[in-house]
Amino acid sequence: KKLAVFVSGGGSNFRKIHEGCSDGSVNGDVVLLVTNKKDCGGAEYARSNGIPVLVFPKAKREPSHGLSPSELVDVLRKYGVDFVLLAGYLKLIPFELVQAFPKRILNIHPALLPAFGGKGLYGIRVHKAVLESGARYSGPSIHFVDEEYDTGQILAQSAVRVIANDTPEELAKRVLHEEHKLYVEVVAAIWEERIKWREDGVPLIQSKE
Ligand code: GRF
Repeated sequence: KKLAVFVSGGGSNFRKIHEGCSDGSVNGDVVLLVTNKKDCGGAEYARSNGIPVLVFPKAKREPSHGLSPSELVDVLRKYGVDFVLLAGYLKLIPFELVQAFPKRILNIHPALLPAFGGKGLYGIRVHKAVLESGARYSGPSIHFVDEEYDTGQILAQSAVRVIANDTPEELAKRVLHEEHKLYVEVVAAIWEERIKWREDGVPLIQSKE
């Protein structure tokens, strides 16, 4: 099966997924990296590992505005992409893409959704909001992507305890560490067809026997 990963930043989740594909813990292949920031860490990592990089969407100031959403869908199809993984991609996914890959686009968010999500809540702001709320737990959520920010069905979460005197930066670090484990586990579960749909439509991951 073939994966496209979308990033806007350092791409540490992307690296872990790529490493998982290379060491066999994930039985998949990253065939394309999509980014809106052509020189971000994730894009550099892709180039140095021979993974094609596609810039989407192009910055408005670029002379050519680049691909339209439906052209992006065509490119993903041309690469034979089965699943799209968003890993720190900060742009809204166009509805053409959501419709072309139903239940085949996942995002990772660094807090326990449905709290602490939505437009404007990304990066360190998420962790600040968690600490300000007085919540005792945070942790990554992986969810299917719909046409809004962070509102799609939750597929997997893991808990990270908030500790006394936590700073947003410290909490972010511990959550990111869990993100790396969780994303690789979820991708492995997809490949092993361990995602089951409860009668009411809630997706659940079956653990390995
Ligand atoms: C992660 O915290 C992810 O949850 C969020 O953006 C960050 C991306 O980190 N959506 P990286 O680029 O994978 O290192």
